[in-house]
Amino acid sequence: MLLHPEVQSRALAEINAVCGDNLPSFEHRPSLPYIEAICREVLRWQPIVPPGLPHRTSQDDVYWGYSIPKGSMVLVNEWAISRDESLYPDASRFDPQRHLTAEGRLKDDPLAGHFAFGYRRRICPGRHFAELSLWAAMVSILSTVRIAKAKDSKGNDIPVIPEYTAGLAMQPKPFACAGHILCVFAFSSAPCSPSQNLTELFLFHIHHSFGPLDLPCTPYL
Ligand code: HEM
Repeated sequence: MLLHPEVQSRALAEINAVCGDNLPSFEHRPSLPYIEAICREVLRWQPIVPPGLPHRTSQDDVYWGYSIPKGSMVLVNEWAISRDESLYPDASRFDPQRHLTAEGRLKDDPLAGHFAFGYRRRICPGRHFAELSLWAAMVSILSTVRIAKAKDSKGNDIPVIPEYTAGLAMQPKPFACAGHILCVFAFSSAPCSPSQNLTELFLFHIHHSFGPLDLPCTPYL
């Protein structure tokens, strides 16, 4: 959001249009396609586990004419999928709109719902929990805080250079940012002390607004 303020503004406009004076909850989720598109794009743009987790073949196999002997290590290259221009044109660009139709509805994407979580029998069993938590955290932050560049001692914006760790799992390297609270009243119904920090307030809000997570049970894809 720090790098793409226009995405943040559009997300807030959608939340305000759908939720009005209320804080978003899971009931609003089907009516917030742009937020859903941001979640998809976050998981696609910088995959959390770029090389996928290694697996070993349990028998000899042939795939697209390639002979794969029993015992070979096989990785699903999530990074390559995320950068496949035939699936995601201009793939290095962060663009939630790519997941929406011209009418603003979510596109059918065979990878949606399990991109970044692996495939078939070993697909991440925590993915529904992870996706719901991601959505709840994202929509809570977007509805209550404007994320902006931090200022240095002279009042100038501190530039942000997006850098990520390398390895099996990837995460952003630390960066400076500022959070401007948009609606303090959002927390007024919950007995929070003013001394609690933002993270605690978010966790508190997520717990109170979203309640127990209703996890779907789906067969593996
Ligand atoms: C954004 C968060 C998460 C991401 C990106 C993620 C991603 C993954 C990936 C890529 C795999 C390997 C799939 C494969 O072997 O092909 C995996 C496996 C697994 N994940 Fe997650 N995961 C997340 C959250 C969670 C959570 C919240 C839980 C538990 C509550 C969880 C539990 C597991 C377990 C137990 C496996 C091993 C499954 C197996 O080998 O049968 N994950 N996850």
